[in-house]
Amino acid sequence: MAWANQLCTAGRGASLRAVAADVRPHSRIESVPRIAVLISGTGTLLQSLIDDPHRGYEIAVVAADRPASGLQRATAAGIPTLVASPADYPDRAAWSTALADLLAEFEPDWVVSAGFMRILEAVFLDRFPQRVVNSHPALLPAFPGAHAVADALAYGVKVTGCTVHLVDSGVDTGPIVAQRSVPVARDDDEDSLHERIKQVEWQLLPEVVNHLVAHGCTVNGRKVEL
Ligand code: GRF
Repeated sequence: MAWANQLCTAGRGASLRAVAADVRPHSRIESVPRIAVLISGTGTLLQSLIDDPHRGYEIAVVAADRPASGLQRATAAGIPTLVASPADYPDRAAWSTALADLLAEFEPDWVVSAGFMRILEAVFLDRFPQRVVNSHPALLPAFPGAHAVADALAYGVKVTGCTVHLVDSGVDTGPIVAQRSVPVARDDDEDSLHERIKQVEWQLLPEVVNHLVAHGCTVNGRKVEL
């Protein structure tokens, strides 16, 4: 089954629980696929999507779960931003629903989690079925979770890397779309290794997103074909 260019209509028109200013959706350019990008930190992965010279998508909105510094990259590029903090909602389900409502206003074809440090629950994923991808700084299924680089170093692996995967409601458990390896150097610490992994993520994620928005993918159990 292919999901290329499938437009999400779920939640469109739902009332916004506004948590940030300046989140007016731009009018849709019909022929250009749209993505929403989720971030939590400095946004270097977001920047790789913004700067992609082969960009076949419009970044319709950048959302964060906190006032992440990376939002400034979106603003500098003229991309609408919003912040939806879990602390502003009674529970995770309410936050997940609100985040999905906010994103749906921007009519994304795909949602790209690029350094977003939250679990996306089923109530969110059901709104964008099989159209949420995440970049993870390890070769899954090894080293899932928030400390992947440190965990790989502590384990003593000689090769690690990065993974782009479809998001399910587990912790980095969704079907793998693409992976690339990164050798571990003898004198690596967490920062140096993560920096080299990120350099590969900056290549891989835009490549995969370009492919997904143009051609979709086929998912057969755990196997994803581009
Ligand atoms: C990436 O390594 C991503 O895989 C991880 O966080 C990093 C993103 O960093 N989850 P940045 O905020 O985009 O610089």
